[in-house]
Amino acid sequence: MASYIVSLILLAIPIISIQAPYCATAASPPGSAASRGDGSCVNCHMRHYEKSGGCVSCHNGNPFSERMNIAHYRLISGKFAHFRIERDKTVIEGERLTNIHACRRCHHIGGSGNFLASSLDSAAIAKTPEEIYEAIKRPASGMPDFRFGESQIIALVNSIEAVAARSGDKRASPPFSLIFKTLDKKKRDIFTSRCGGCHKAISRKKGALGNGITAPNLSGIFTRHYPASFSNSGKWSGKRLKEWLGNPRKIRPMAKMQPVFLDDEEFRELMEVLEN
Ligand code: HEC
Ligand code: HEC
Ligand code: HEC
Ligand code: HEC
Repeated sequence: MASYIVSLILLAIPIISIQAPYCATAASPPGSAASRGDGSCVNCHMRHYEKSGGCVSCHNGNPFSERMNIAHYRLISGKFAHFRIERDKTVIEGERLTNIHACRRCHHIGGSGNFLASSLDSAAIAKTPEEIYEAIKRPASGMPDFRFGESQIIALVNSIEAVAARSGDKRASPPFSLIFKTLDKKKRDIFTSRCGGCHKAISRKKGALGNGITAPNLSGIFTRHYPASFSNSGKWSGKRLKEWLGNPRKIRPMAKMQPVFLDDEEFRELMEVLEN
């Protein structure tokens, strides 16, 4: 609100007119731009994607103002506007990255996925594309750093926006809180003490566990959103995990992980962490 007032005050002061790349010198013929809903946008810009709708259908903005700052209110810049185009290749690339990096093992995206972290459908509604870009580029604690390049992040943001728009899932996501606490050594959970040196995992009840980055992140391991492991595509279950811990090489001949011996009580505790 305050910044809105400030901008109104600033705009009351006569401003130097901004020379846009394609700024029209003469006024547009009456009604022509307005009739398409493009308003002031085409005073300063050339048209494109004309068959797909008006400027604001893809870029937002306020077409009733001649002033750039106001016309650009909540503008969706070109690089994040691909999601408005049907089967755009940037969006398809983003969907491919979402699948191969198994974002859904933690996030709800396009109406499907786990709730170990916030729903990206809700994030797409509440946040700007720039904020989503930043969240992937500089991940919060608990979110893996995938070290994506700029074009990959742009593709991901476009696909997150596209599937959120398509899924039409307007339900608020369940309240999300991730627990981060330095655990007392004695009270450490079994995952942190026996797996956490090499692995990480998010547990609904216990929060973000482990510090390891040398081994796969085990978040959502028993769900269908967990990625198929490299040399086998079988799903993980309690039985399979028990076999794996007893001797990983029985399941995967080239496995690097050493066996970890847990008694029944410890295994039960581990399952409680990983299943929640
Ligand atoms: C008074 C002139 C003016 C008006 C009116 C105007 N723009 Fe712009 N626009 C500019 C200029 C100058 C730039 C380049 C500088 C910048 O990005 O700030 C620009 C940049 C843009 C960009 C590119 C931003 C990016 O980073 O990709 C988009 C998209 C855009 N405008 C859309 C619109 C839309 C949609 C409207 C109408 C609702 C509109 N503009 C109205 C002058 C204008
Ligand atoms: C169907 C969606 C769509 C519509 C309609 C649309 N744009 Fe865009 N716009 C995009 C996309 C996607 C980009 C990104 C680059 C590209 O594909 O050209 C973009 C890029 C831009 C840019 C940045 C160009 C550059 O090279 O940096 C400007 C400015 C712009 N659009 C203005 C407008 C204006 C003004 C209108 C209305 C006359 C409009 N757009 C209509 C989707 C759209
Ligand atoms: C191991 C679990 C995990 C995986 C896998 C994961 N994330 Fe996250 N992500 C998190 C956590 C934890 C946060 C921070 C808390 C929150 O906002 O959910 C987060 C935050 C985000 C945010 C900010 C959300 C907001 O509301 O501000 C975005 C965007 C995001 N992740 C995108 C992705 C994308 C894209 C992928 C896949 C390439 C991905 N994440 C994979 C755990 C994960
Ligand atoms: C000393 C490091 C280390 C410890 C401790 C460790 N792991 Fe691993 N783990 C690995 C490595 C490295 C891999 C990579 C796969 C391989 O070995 O081929 C792995 C792989 C796995 C996999 C397969 C994941 C996949 O997607 O293929 C599971 C499941 C697993 N570990 C569970 C556990 C559990 C549960 C614990 C604790 C009880 C644990 N690990 C402790 C290093 C460790």
